[in-house]
Amino acid sequence: MPSEVKILVTGGGGFLGSHLSDALLDRGDEVFVLEPGGTTKVRHLIGHPRFRVVRDSVLSLDILDSLIAQVDLVFHHAAVVGVEHYVGDPYEVLNVNVNGTQNVLKAAFKYGRKVVLASTSEVYGRNPKIPWREDDDRVLGSTRIDRWCYSTSKATAEHLCFAYRKMGLPVTIVRYFNIYGPRLDKLDAGRIITIFMGQLLRGEPLTVIGDGLQTRCFTWVGDAIRATIQAGVAPGTEGGIFNIGTDVETSILELAKLMIEIGGGNSTIRFVDQREVYGESYEDIPRRVPDATRMREILGITAETPLREGLARTIESFRDEVAPRGVARAAGA
Ligand SMILES: NC(=O)c1ccc[n+]([C@@H]2O[C@H](COP(=O)([O-])OP(=O)(O)OC[C@H]3O[C@@H](n4cnc5c(N)ncnc54)[C@H](O)[C@@H]3O)[C@@H](O)[C@H]2O)c1
Repeated sequence: MPSEVKILVTGGGGFLGSHLSDALLDRGDEVFVLEPGGTTKVRHLIGHPRFRVVRDSVLSLDILDSLIAQVDLVFHHAAVVGVEHYVGDPYEVLNVNVNGTQNVLKAAFKYGRKVVLASTSEVYGRNPKIPWREDDDRVLGSTRIDRWCYSTSKATAEHLCFAYRKMGLPVTIVRYFNIYGPRLDKLDAGRIITIFMGQLLRGEPLTVIGDGLQTRCFTWVGDAIRATIQAGVAPGTEGGIFNIGTDVETSILELAKLMIEIGGGNSTIRFVDQREVYGESYEDIPRRVPDATRMREILGITAETPLREGLARTIESFRDEVAPRGVARAAGA
């Protein structure tokens, strides 16, 4: 790879894509972002001489062709993400995550460009063997249960990568485990930390689904991005799959308590029935833990940022977004 690399980040206006763009620009790379959604998360980069946003979709092969022709490397982060989509709009999940990936690979193959696919811990489904190694089995429920469409869409994207790999395309797959940080999702939407965050900032009870004993390995975005860049540029990563995450487990109940403790205020905890939130057919996964050996030994990265520290930074950033510091102070908040 040349020292200044030209890079396409699909879905670069999203949470991870925006942090990835920041880090790539800091390295001195030139970054093209393909993003049909809003550009709020990259608004601080607009006008940067080495940064460009194209407002279009990975479903457009022509656009991908013209962009990939100009770059050395592709981080394919575009996807339809979030439980509300898996159960509410499975067609869009499958269409973008499978057909969009197919388009990226087709164009990358034409020009011989390396692709890093952003995949997910959801690929392992509910395999009860913990921790999960990259070659472990996928254990999924019925196709009648829409929540599995996301896992299946990403696994299909991985299969497509390996099919292209067999034809000679350099590909690397990263499987993220609950990455969090500033710019995650909108307050009250998307993932658990932003749902809790909205409730916390309004001083409302944090709603824990079920008994709250299900665990996740919450991974600080900065650690995940360092590993992602290594997956793109380090030698010896091609054809590999890498779990990206910490192996420190935190229950959802502990997360809620920690956010209340760090955030201050008067929030309490309220338990709600899972069926009330996701309906009858949702299946939750009790534990999700990566074996991070390959990330540590091959990518040379450990997800070492403690949850307490990362959450404090995340809460602070959301507070600033809701009420910019100066305004809050002037109002005596
Ligand atoms: N954050 C995590 O913990 C996590 C965990 C597992 C996997 N991932 C994967 O990482 C990637 C980024 O996730 P994120 O957390 O930043 O979510 P995100 O929703 O913030 O980012 C995804 C981006 O893709 C964009 N997108 C949607 N449809 C598109 C299309 N047709 N063309 C181009 N872009 C499109 C969205 O507008 C969004 O900006 C996704 O592929 C996701 O599956 C993330």
